[in-house]
Amino acid sequence: MNVKNPPSSSWFIAGTDTEIGKTFSATALILALKNRGIKVIGMKPVAAGTDSDGKNSDVESLISASNVKAPRELVNPYLFRPAIAPHIAAAETGRPIEIPRIIEAFNTLRAMADAVVVEGVGGFHVPLGPNTDTSGLALQLGLPIILIVGMRLGCINHALLTQHAILAHGLTLSGWIANRIDPGMPRFEENLDTLKERFSAPLLGVIPAHATPEIAAGKIQIPGYRD
Ligand SMILES: Nc1ncnc2c1ncn2[C@@H]1O[C@H](COP(=O)(O)OP(=O)(O)OP(=O)(O)O)[C@@H](O)[C@H]1O
Ligand SMILES: [Mg+2]
Repeated sequence: MNVKNPPSSSWFIAGTDTEIGKTFSATALILALKNRGIKVIGMKPVAAGTDSDGKNSDVESLISASNVKAPRELVNPYLFRPAIAPHIAAAETGRPIEIPRIIEAFNTLRAMADAVVVEGVGGFHVPLGPNTDTSGLALQLGLPIILIVGMRLGCINHALLTQHAILAHGLTLSGWIANRIDPGMPRFEENLDTLKERFSAPLLGVIPAHATPEIAAGKIQIPGYRD
């Protein structure tokens, strides 16, 4: 694929659950884009959980992978200290999550780079406030979705429910990534085959367990780009 003429290349990274490798896979996707000479920024619109320096590890990982430096308040407009459900953190701090502010930040980032990789929060229907959740955020951003499936027992149901929700919202599912979070998962290949049969979008790659983001970057196909 000619880098001078890249296809539309911003995605919303959704997951089958929390802690299944969204940040890991988003970081790998950013590295894969960089390897193709593409200017890319990672965005984490809403993060919950900070370390003793007041930093969030997802935000730090996306920032350090990106090759376009952007103001932190654009990369991560909402950061809450406790690692709890964001709508609860927002209510407790009296700082409601405003989707238009996130959209504005995204549009600014989009103008600074060729690609923006936006990581969602937890699973696909995580509330962000009284009237919205992560699916609403994806919808308002208008981005195609890459679904990260954390490969472990129970993931087929989570993956298919999430695909159903994505399509029911009229969103585009660009593809899915099988991330081996449980290296000992019994019948891994059979589970993978079942998912391949039931997903309407392509498998973009299988990320091995105990990988590094660099190794993972070599395992995934970027939607719209030929290798
Ligand atoms: N394939 C893999 N190889 C090695 N480590 C991995 C892999 N997938 C995930 N991890 C590690 O597992 C942990 C959880 O992954 P990650 O933080 O990407 O999950 P997440 O879905 O982004 O979680 P959250 O919902 O909190 O944002 C991290 O320490 C990450 O580095
Ligand atoms: Mg994450």
